[in-house]
Amino acid sequence: MLPRGLPLIVLFLVQLRHRVIWASLESAEMSDRLENVTQTISRILDGYDIRLRPNFGGDPLRVGMDLTIASFDAISEVNMDYTITMYLNQYWKDERLAFSHEGEVLTLSGDFAEKIWVPDTFFANDKNSFLHDVTERNKLVRLSGDGSITYGMRFTTTLACMMDLHYYPLDSQNCTVEIESYGYTVLDVLMYWKETPVHGVKEAELPQFTIIGYETNDRKEKLATGIYQRLSLSFKLQRNIGYFVFQTYLPSILIVMLSWVSFWINYEATSARVALGITTVLTMTTISTGVRSSLPRISYVKAIDIYLVMCFVFVFAALLEYAAVNYTYWGAKAKKKIKKKETDEKKILSSKTGSKVSSPFPGSTDADIIELQDLRMSPLPSIRNRSGIVSASSTLGAGRDHDPAKFPPSFRMSRTAAYNTHSRNSGLRYRGPRPHKPKMLHVLRRGASVLRVSMPKIKDVNVIDKYSRIIFPVSFMLFNAVYWIFYFF
Ligand SMILES: *[C@@H]1O[C@H](CO)[C@@H](O)[C@H](O)[C@H]1NC(C)=O
Ligand SMILES: *[C@@H]1O[C@H](CO)[C@@H](O)[C@H](O)[C@H]1NC(C)=O
Repeated sequence: MLPRGLPLIVLFLVQLRHRVIWASLESAEMSDRLENVTQTISRILDGYDIRLRPNFGGDPLRVGMDLTIASFDAISEVNMDYTITMYLNQYWKDERLAFSHEGEVLTLSGDFAEKIWVPDTFFANDKNSFLHDVTERNKLVRLSGDGSITYGMRFTTTLACMMDLHYYPLDSQNCTVEIESYGYTVLDVLMYWKETPVHGVKEAELPQFTIIGYETNDRKEKLATGIYQRLSLSFKLQRNIGYFVFQTYLPSILIVMLSWVSFWINYEATSARVALGITTVLTMTTISTGVRSSLPRISYVKAIDIYLVMCFVFVFAALLEYAAVNYTYWGAKAKKKIKKKETDEKKILSSKTGSKVSSPFPGSTDADIIELQDLRMSPLPSIRNRSGIVSASSTLGAGRDHDPAKFPPSFRMSRTAAYNTHSRNSGLRYRGPRPHKPKMLHVLRRGASVLRVSMPKIKDVNVIDKYSRIIFPVSFMLFNAVYWIFYFF
């Protein structure tokens, strides 16, 4: 009796045999083909002279170019260069390398490029470049049956870009990639851009610039050793202003505005105003130092220089303004002291004659009324009694023999508060017989003059300050308008 699994095993063995046969056939074909390719390569390289260009002695060789931007890495104003990583492909036809008429394409390792002639392309504005070699040298050679070659590589290069910084940081730059053959003149090699010469510009991102356009050109470059074909790719780069707005312009504007605060501070507050002026001047210096550190030492004036210098001038002028205010104030004060006695006497005289007309009560001024109210409004009855002036309606006559020297200082100082709270009732006061008034007014006036001297003159604004409050902001706004219109349009 046969085991039940036997037919299955037989079937499996048969299949296995078939497979082995197929595999061996395939591998034989494969090795044939590989041998064929190896032979082909050896054959085409046999007797190949790497030193001679294709079509040597004949028409110039046409070398096509295209490149793909992998990344825009950095743009340096200090060094006047920029760094990009790109894939560069060169296309040409070397008939010596043709191996079949079918459109067969062999992709070979980069090393193959060392065995065949390749163009001696270089970047005319290159400062420093390197080919990436992780994990292997980033090169490719693709050989077509008819001898057409695609030679590609990936590298990072730092290219010179002479920048015009007159409009910095509101500028746009034109940076180029200049490609040329090092040794072959137009008689030997003619370079040209492929139909779509540049890829990847739209995807390229730059922190400080926006690529607003690019264009490719080719021209003949006449050098001492002959005329060369030069391909150039130029990028139009627009600088992004955002960074400078927040880093330079806005702080400068705020510092200039801060310097105007001084005009609203009393001119007697010398330390406050001088400190404010000097702080703003120093801050402007710091800001402009920061800006300068990221720029080469260019002699010409840049847009940002104009702005910073003007801001500095404004801040400095605000400091000088205080110098002027202070000078006029102290000068005036010195004169005042001399004339003070005379004027005091004059005042007293004029009050005695009662020349006021505006007051509803002849012979009295507003100040008199206030003073009167103060006295009567005192919360302390003892003071009222001591000063001899008790509530106006009943015993006004008692103030006849009152002495101004007895006015307590605390009493005088409480004037404003008392006036504010009781001002509504003021109409009721100031009644009664008038004959005693002149003398009393005279006394009160004396008290008021004492008060005036002891209190700081807040309302007395210097004329220079008054005008500066308007002139400084207006002229700064004008400057800004002119500046931004000039540099933006
Ligand atoms: C090997 O190369 C010859 C020509 O050189 C070609 O006719 C033949 O088909 C090739 N064989 C294979 C397997 O590619
Ligand atoms: C950059 O400048 C070159 C000449 O220096 C000019 O030919 C090219 O058109 C400019 N590129 C752009 C994008 O403006």
